[in-house]
Amino acid sequence: MATEFANGPSAATKSAATEVEQSSNNRAAELGWEVLTKKALLPSDFSQTVIDDIWRSWPEEARVKAENASPEDRLRLIYHRYGLSERPELLVGKDGTAAFVSPQQEDSVGPPMQYVVSEKGDWTMNCLSCHGGSVYGVPTPGAPNNRYALQTLTEEVRSTKFRLGKPLGRMELGSLVIPLGTTNGTTNAVVFGMGLMNYRDSELNVVQRAPQTFVHHDMDAPPWWHFYKRPYLYIDGFAQKGHRGLMQFTLVPENGPEFYREHEDDFRNVFAFLSSLRAPQYDGPIDQPLAERGRHLFEQTCARCHGTYGPDGGTYPNEMVPIDELGTDPVRFQALTSEGRQRYADSWFAQLKQGESQETRVNPEGYVAPPLDGVWASPPYFHNGSVPTLWHVLHPQERPVLWKRAAEAIDPERMGFQIELADKVPLSQPDVLIRRSYFDTRRFGKSAAGHDYPDELNEQEKRAVLEYLKTL
Ligand code: HEC
Ligand code: HEC
Repeated sequence: MATEFANGPSAATKSAATEVEQSSNNRAAELGWEVLTKKALLPSDFSQTVIDDIWRSWPEEARVKAENASPEDRLRLIYHRYGLSERPELLVGKDGTAAFVSPQQEDSVGPPMQYVVSEKGDWTMNCLSCHGGSVYGVPTPGAPNNRYALQTLTEEVRSTKFRLGKPLGRMELGSLVIPLGTTNGTTNAVVFGMGLMNYRDSELNVVQRAPQTFVHHDMDAPPWWHFYKRPYLYIDGFAQKGHRGLMQFTLVPENGPEFYREHEDDFRNVFAFLSSLRAPQYDGPIDQPLAERGRHLFEQTCARCHGTYGPDGGTYPNEMVPIDELGTDPVRFQALTSEGRQRYADSWFAQLKQGESQETRVNPEGYVAPPLDGVWASPPYFHNGSVPTLWHVLHPQERPVLWKRAAEAIDPERMGFQIELADKVPLSQPDVLIRRSYFDTRRFGKSAAGHDYPDELNEQEKRAVLEYLKTL
């Protein structure tokens, strides 16, 4: 059944009672942002000394550039290489929606959004490493980090620690046996979660179990600005939304069962923060009459799965599509087993409070059509990030086999990444970061096939729908 949405929480701020409620929600959202950006929830990954020295592990061309740069510009190069950005400030509006302001400073570089940096200079990965990206150069909390280079960062931290004689940490050791992500901007995140859950009982005590084998595959993180609309989370919609479920990413052996009880309020606040996010608006030119035609076509062809949008807030049908009918890459669907989902269903994570279980779909049929608010701002497309532009989503036959992002700026014609095509990944390229910027749709879990629904439209109709998608 479709859920209807008022356009922003402002509709609820009528009476004095709801105003009080609104202001306590706003406070919770602010506290949630603090938890994400200031509270280290995992053991620290590396120190400031390591990050300041990391450029010495780079391939020659990049290293020479860093060597000749001022200390501030060198730090900017380091941020840029790994997909990090300066942390903006949060402002929660009276209507309860989040807005962000970026610091504008020439002579210093602020702390990163993607890591918590302690006063002692310890860096610890946070949720925003994958969920805090840049929308065509503008740092945007909640946008998928489509530039995050976790694998390369981890390898270069490892060689830097080695050079500095420092002990290796969890990530550098773990990544020797588990791939973290083979293409920049995508990660093997689901497998980290499942792997760690294997060593817990339902109350989250750490237990001994035989190691399981997992199907490694990379995913493109979904934007958080859909969170307020989605009753169930993840591409297969298997888990009902709840604050406890958000804590899965902190499942390292160092965090025992008491960690989860102690941090429950923090994650109620993170939940409030996620609920306060809304999609950014496209500020480029829009052909309004064409977009209006696109809206009609979208409502006929796409809305049954993706819902409706507009000043009234629209609807979201939460529609699950059987995997064979959909035809997009099935690896993620198969990788999460019924037993894995059942283990989640029986655990502390799937309860709202003690004894109050949430719904878990142990055997979903396929993937759930996501809301498309702000879809212009979250390339690449599909759950595995295999399709570089919205035009290519609308033209299933023309999707590139092997592509690479060619510039930071938007392709305003096709709405998405500007790309270069190639026949094969240039293995002679000495910089592994550049090799990992190629997306090869022939590789396991990276298919760009399927979702042929746009082919119900002719070319002119597709143009109109593309124009409409800019308005969401
Ligand atoms: C290593 C990257 C990574 C990190 C770190 C990470 N996530 Fe995610 N997150 C993902 C990916 C990939 C998915 C998609 C999983 C899927 O659909 O199966 C996801 C899905 C989600 C979703 C579901 C969104 C939706 O619309 O379905 C939420 C909510 C979420 N993450 C919250 C968090 C929180 C909170 C943290 C920190 C405690 C976190 N994530 C840390 C990569 C990450
Ligand atoms: C039968 C249901 C269904 C119909 C009809 C449908 N879609 Fe989808 N759509 C999906 C599903 C499911 C996904 C997720 C696929 C994946 O990630 O593997 C999706 C994904 C997308 C995405 C990528 C979203 C992202 O953030 O990665 C876009 C864009 C999109 N659809 C646009 C459209 C348009 C435009 C139409 C109409 C021409 C349409 N869809 C019709 C089910 C549908």
